Amino acid sequence: MGRGAPRGTIALSKIQPSMVESIVSEIAASSSAVRLRGVTKTYDSGVMALGPLDLEVRQGEFVSLLGPSGCGKSTALRIIAGLATPSTGTVELAHHDVERRGSHRIGFVFQEPTLMPWANVRDNVRLPLKLARAPATDADARIEAALDQVGLAEFAGAYPRELSGGMKMRVSLARALVTDPDILLMDEPFAALDEITRFRLNNDLLSLWRDLHKTVIFVTHSVFESVYLSERVIVMTARPGRIGAEFHINSAEPRGEEFRTSAEYAAYCREVSHALAPSYAGQAGA
Ligand SMILES: Nc1ncnc2c1ncn2[C@@H]1O[C@H](COP(=O)(O)OP(=O)(O)O)[C@@H](O)[C@H]1O
Ligand SMILES: [Mg+2]
Repeated sequence: MGRGAPRGTIALSKIQPSMVESIVSEIAASSSAVRLRGVTKTYDSGVMALGPLDLEVRQGEFVSLLGPSGCGKSTALRIIAGLATPSTGTVELAHHDVERRGSHRIGFVFQEPTLMPWANVRDNVRLPLKLARAPATDADARIEAALDQVGLAEFAGAYPRELSGGMKMRVSLARALVTDPDILLMDEPFAALDEITRFRLNNDLLSLWRDLHKTVIFVTHSVFESVYLSERVIVMTARPGRIGAEFHINSAEPRGEEFRTSAEYAAYCREVSHALAPSYAGQAGA
């Protein structure tokens, strides 16, 4: 790679941002980060996956989309990211005023860490900066900061095969943060992790969110995870996914182990579970 970067790499760096720009318009001076209006998605197969969905997310808000498998959660995130186009409706994102090369409006954390096995942690995190051709010295400092944020500074030279599942997911999170996005979209990022690791990542994600002031849209099918993390939980219906119910989690407790074992938390989980039940109705084996 390096100087002789393959053609595909250069093409991708040109295509990615413009792909996003082509389907979204900007929200003029407003405190909203994301606004979807009447968004539907019907795939070529004829499957209507989503909507109509109306959703507004405040800048700096932590929102979870909670729903059963197949209800259109990933479709919704991909549409917000500009990775898929809506069949109808509009997507608006807040104006992104950082001009720095390799600074993106959106960071996406996928369900799988999707790391390059042949590259070490540092080079995996470098990828989006490389695609955007950010200057190397700037990139090094940004990678270091992102690894620090996810607690992996000491593992910069390690390879994915040397990392636990939780650490791989931290690398994936660092790779999303390195572009300093305004909006972080997370698609069931911790679903495959054991419970203790998931709890630790939940806590670390919350402290990152408090420190970095990102807008987070977090997809999960776990009631417990959504209530623990979010300021607002949006319960989606069965496919085609729409908003079934919405809960504001106004906890006085700082989120931590105290909150996780509190009566207040249990009461929210009960309410949200109750609202989610109809979304599972009719699903065989659910
Ligand atoms: N690329 C695609 N082509 C055709 N159908 C798809 C595609 N992606 C998802 N679907 C279908 O759309 C529905 C919603 O999928 P998805 O958004 O992945 O749901 P979730 O993330 O909530 O599990 C499912 O029925 C799925 O099979
Ligand atoms: Mg999904």
